[in-house]
Amino acid sequence: MDYKNLIKAAKLAKKNSHSPYSKFRVGAAILTKSRKIYSGCNIEISSYSLTICAERTALFKAISEGEKKFVALALSTDEEGFTSPCGACRQVISDLAGDIDIILTNGKGKVKLLRTSDLLPHPFTPNNLI
Ligand code: THU
Repeated sequence: MDYKNLIKAAKLAKKNSHSPYSKFRVGAAILTKSRKIYSGCNIEISSYSLTICAERTALFKAISEGEKKFVALALSTDEEGFTSPCGACRQVISDLAGDIDIILTNGKGKVKLLRTSDLLPHPFTPNNLI
């Protein structure tokens, strides 16, 4: 599976990062089963806790456009090493996208391929409420 365009979209979305407090720019892009890409960046708010991560921006954009099936999510930061999704995003990805490919990128153009289940094993899921 070639995720080049998805990674490109995550990198591009990072340019819109609104991160005046942390200066930590993040871009994410999610690929739907129907091969559409939705991207998003982190958006920081002055009261800090209302900040939203890039992963959730991208995923919420897709969900609000009616998307339901997802294949992969790519993440881009300016870090030399790999950055992986925070705990809150892991739960949101697990709930809304399920066990998909998670593509981490580093500043050197290297890629690490994981699954949601690698990041959040034994998840609490919507099925637990049925
Ligand atoms: N952030 C993300 O957007 N995604 C992550 O996976 C980790 C953290 C954002 C939130 C905040 O704007 C900044 O990075 C520093 O935590």
